[in-house]
Amino acid sequence: MGIPQPAFYIFKCEQSNPPGMPKPSCVNPQTQDLFQHLAQTLMQKGIIGTVQPIRTSCMNRCNVGPIMLVEPGHVMYAQLDKEKISRIIDEHIIGGNVVEEYVIESELWDDAISPEDMMKQMGR
Ligand code: FES
Repeated sequence: MGIPQPAFYIFKCEQSNPPGMPKPSCVNPQTQDLFQHLAQTLMQKGIIGTVQPIRTSCMNRCNVGPIMLVEPGHVMYAQLDKEKISRIIDEHIIGGNVVEEYVIESELWDDAISPEDMMKQMGR
């Protein structure tokens, strides 16, 4: 048997903007330990081997940050804090049920455009 692939990847935006920058970012002094909370909780539950947390840069949903994306499923969670992350791990990652009340509003996370269709739109 080979090395198993992860069951989930959790992409946590770790972008922080310099102080004084008008644009919001997912990491500021109040939210800077969320990735650590995510990774520690996965470790404590003994599932970090099959749930891979990944630090990413901006995913262009800064106004509703802190955000994180769960794959597979393309599930984007917004306005996170430690309690919400813990609940997402218990109910979505372990329990298999998306925590709908924390999912980003669909207007900000509409269906993807396939690369092929995008090329057609651009006339290429
Ligand atoms: S800074 Fe996190 S989505 Fe932009």
